Amino acid sequence: MKPLGPIPPFYQAMGGELSFDGRRVQEFVEKAGRTPIFIYSRAAILQRIAHLRQVLPEDVQINYAVKANPYRPILEMMSEEVDGFDIASGGELALALQAGIDARRVSFAGPGKRDAELEAAITAGVTLNLESEGEARRALAMGQTLAIRPRLAIRVNPDFELKGSGMKMGGGAKPFGVDAERVPALARTIIGQGAEWRGLHIFTGSQSLDAGAIIEAQDNVLSLAGELTDAIGTPLPKLNLGGGFGIPYFHGDEALDMERIGAALSARMAVSSDAFSDTEFCVELGRYLVGEAGVYVTRIVDRKISHGQIYLVTDGGLHHQLAASGNFGTVVRRNYPLALVKAFDAEPTEVANVVGCLCTPLDRLADKAHLPHADVGDLVAVFCAGAYGASASPTAFLGQGPAAEMLV
Ligand SMILES: Cc1ncc(COP(=O)(O)O)c(C=O)c1O
Repeated sequence: MKPLGPIPPFYQAMGGELSFDGRRVQEFVEKAGRTPIFIYSRAAILQRIAHLRQVLPEDVQINYAVKANPYRPILEMMSEEVDGFDIASGGELALALQAGIDARRVSFAGPGKRDAELEAAITAGVTLNLESEGEARRALAMGQTLAIRPRLAIRVNPDFELKGSGMKMGGGAKPFGVDAERVPALARTIIGQGAEWRGLHIFTGSQSLDAGAIIEAQDNVLSLAGELTDAIGTPLPKLNLGGGFGIPYFHGDEALDMERIGAALSARMAVSSDAFSDTEFCVELGRYLVGEAGVYVTRIVDRKISHGQIYLVTDGGLHHQLAASGNFGTVVRRNYPLALVKAFDAEPTEVANVVGCLCTPLDRLADKAHLPHADVGDLVAVFCAGAYGASASPTAFLGQGPAAEMLV
């Protein structure tokens, strides 16, 4: 038997069935008329944002990293709820604009921005988080061609990282950002050439559940930003402190102590350099805002036995939920949280493997999971599906088609 990950806090049993926000998941599936489906809870996202606003310092804005979930109704909702948006491509820019998001609230980070992407971003008024001197040259030249003053910030590659994070985005040689020691010269060039100086972006890693490591990284980010600002010699308009706030996916993972992070950040900002007197601050969060607010629901198509093991074969799989299969950023495969929709609070009675319908041994949703008895037709819920699900999975693989999505 292998343990399942922890069920996120937003879900309850109602008459034994999986529900959230006082409504049964089965009801949403019936309404959609099909499986597999991602169901995202508006109430859960709002609860997360409200809690963050309560614990973070008042002058720290919340940005949503669109890459976590670019589903249009989520972007439309976020447009009302968060302060800014971070995009990673021209494609995400188009999605943000289609969702009615004001481009001046958007910043664009990511290596390898093509000229067409620079053009679209500068034309719209998006802030570019420059990833290199070459990109800066192209952005300045594009601004001249378009006769638009580009809004430019620099993404810094710091000499430190977010320790223990799932994905490290700083510390040593990286394709992301400009090495810290070259930032002042680049900033002076940008300012000297008449661009609108928008500040620094220092993103050190993602998916950390270690409050101490996040506090240390934020402390380092503030120190580095202070030093760079002194060296640049111009007040810093904006500091993107990065994010990295993780969510519990696996057995033994514990939710982040956000109160501790918020209190430490308040204390640290209170002693920050004078260089920050007119600085706007933000954090950049993806999965922490939406990850636990989404559930992926798939239907059992077959129940079979092989060499004594039970296999529950579903109509879903890694083409929608790659991360749950263990093939997206994890070294050792572990089970995501998963449950039977009809028997959410029932005692487990058997050990079963839950697999997808793709003809590859990689397509596993749960290995040797202890579950109540499940039959063909029953629904299986895979949690923590609100981020990096539909948009970070190989939807076209084996021609199974996309899952439905619904924000409720
Ligand atoms: C620059 C940047 N911003 C935001 C994110 C979102 O991270 P998360 O969803 O873990 O908050 C990432 C993830 O890798 C990133 O690279």
